[in-house]
Amino acid sequence: MKQHVPLIVGNWKMNPATVGAAKKLFLAIRKALGRKRLNVHIAVAPPFPFLSELERLSPSQRISLAAQDVFFEAIGAHTGEVSLPMLKSVGVTAVIVGHSERRARGESDHEIYEDVSTLFKSNVTGIICVGENERDDSGNFYSVVEAQLRSALRGVPKTKLKQLVIAYEPVWAIGTGAVATPEDVHEMKLFIQKILTDHFGRAGAEKVRVIYGGSVKKKNAAALLEEGQVDGFLIGGASLKAKEFVSIINIAHEYEKTSV
Ligand code: PGA
Repeated sequence: MKQHVPLIVGNWKMNPATVGAAKKLFLAIRKALGRKRLNVHIAVAPPFPFLSELERLSPSQRISLAAQDVFFEAIGAHTGEVSLPMLKSVGVTAVIVGHSERRARGESDHEIYEDVSTLFKSNVTGIICVGENERDDSGNFYSVVEAQLRSALRGVPKTKLKQLVIAYEPVWAIGTGAVATPEDVHEMKLFIQKILTDHFGRAGAEKVRVIYGGSVKKKNAAALLEEGQVDGFLIGGASLKAKEFVSIINIAHEYEKTSV
């Protein structure tokens, strides 16, 4: 049985180029969503400088604002960093941590743990990204995901599990068009849930949403939900096209309606 309302997050990464273009994209998404009541939680994660402008465009909170990263200290001499209180002050209610593009630039499991620890002292949703760089026949990629996950989970108290989202994002599938098969995604979801159960017990693990990211498009979204059994998506490239992004949201809504 499904337990969670699907969560669809658009990770805009370092796009678009200007605040004007960001507002245009946001408004196009809002327009494409129309007035229909959707049983889907929607968030977009724009670059930091656009957050406060977009907050003004989302008075109904129909689309929540997420940040692409956070720094664990609250204030002080940390050139180039952005803190959680800053993000909250511009309406951010969810933060992505440990994205593979941050890890590729040197962010370590320990730093991710520190960010997670700060985040879970607040009421902000934490979307923790895990995923292997490549798949091997002997299944070593499971240990890669396990190590990333166990390290980050040390920063999550048992009382905050409703705020926890794990995004399984195999790096080889990000921005490549090489999407993981629904079966692979399902197996990894079960594996992640097993680790969550080890850590928090069964009832705790059931509160956590597990979503998938990596070349999600409208043409593969239904199978990933139905067979992959994930609780939603983290979407990069396809979230920059309002119509494509909203098509995926509508697919998630239909799935939510028809499945029990
Ligand atoms: P993609 O990116 O949808 O462009 O593959 C996903 C992500 O990196 O979150």
